[in-house]
Amino acid sequence: RTVRIIGAPTDYGANRRGVDMGPSAIRYAGLAAQLERIGIDVVDSGDVPAPRAEEREPDAETFQSGEAKFLRETRQVSTRLGDAVATALDADQTPLVLGGDHSVAIGSVTGSARDAEIGTVWFDAHGDFNTPATSPSGNVHGMPLAALLGVGEFANLEWPAGDGLRSESIALVGLRDVDEAEREAIADSPVTAFTMSDIDERGIAPVVEDALDVATMATDGVHVSLDLDWLDPREAPGVGTPVRGGVTYREAHAALESVSDRGCLRSLELVEVNPILDEHNETASLATELAASALGKQIL
Ligand code: ARG
Ligand code: MN
Ligand code: MN
Ligand code: MN
Repeated sequence: RTVRIIGAPTDYGANRRGVDMGPSAIRYAGLAAQLERIGIDVVDSGDVPAPRAEEREPDAETFQSGEAKFLRETRQVSTRLGDAVATALDADQTPLVLGGDHSVAIGSVTGSARDAEIGTVWFDAHGDFNTPATSPSGNVHGMPLAALLGVGEFANLEWPAGDGLRSESIALVGLRDVDEAEREAIADSPVTAFTMSDIDERGIAPVVEDALDVATMATDGVHVSLDLDWLDPREAPGVGTPVRGGVTYREAHAALESVSDRGCLRSLELVEVNPILDEHNETASLATELAASALGKQIL
């Protein structure tokens, strides 16, 4: 297959500066070469233009509870990214989006869902189900799923078309830090959530199989959104919002190998890598290795 790398260097959706350097760090870790080694053709379309937080209204200073920071910028970049993802798919390429903070998923998912019914597997420590009203931070990286599903105030916001996202076909995997209001929102929504407790009790393989069942049910393909804070901070220190008790290196590989084995991968994204907080680019390297597993790398 042919993979098209698309960088989305945003950071205005997160509190900590630095995730905008994620695309550079992941490329520098040797992403293209790793994928080429397993027989994939790689094209790199560079980065979609993303505004710098400093050049914009100092939203962070005028921010009031109940608002989402940089929503205008999020919409603009989501539109560009969605177009880039849809264009790659039209050319029979597999889009590989490099974030950026997790707000970029709004663009990746709407682009992937433009001409197909899709499911989504969301590997994350967090629920990413806040709305502007419930968010403790105002950071849109904590809201992309609510935004995509039109929850709360997002019901009045129109995102660039991506009508093929099936809400019943969304599975969250690895949750361990969910805000109070998110808990209710997740319970009230048609998505399926698997927590770290589920992984503890049942093991990673059966949980990921169940998640893939959810995401492939009545869909044409699956978008995999990998927030690197899904992993334990000991394995992935270079993320903006680390939470103890995440999956191990082996569990993460096993999960992404299962994704590959299903043969359902339509689009992939790697988000929340923060090189400023990383140690010798190891989180970015880990992201490239996991992408290779998702795209078919095998040990033998
Ligand atoms: N729940 C918290 C918030 O809304 C943290 C979200 C972290 N999201 C992420 N994609 N890292 O601010
Ligand atoms: Mn997260
Ligand atoms: Mn928070
Ligand atoms: Mn996330």
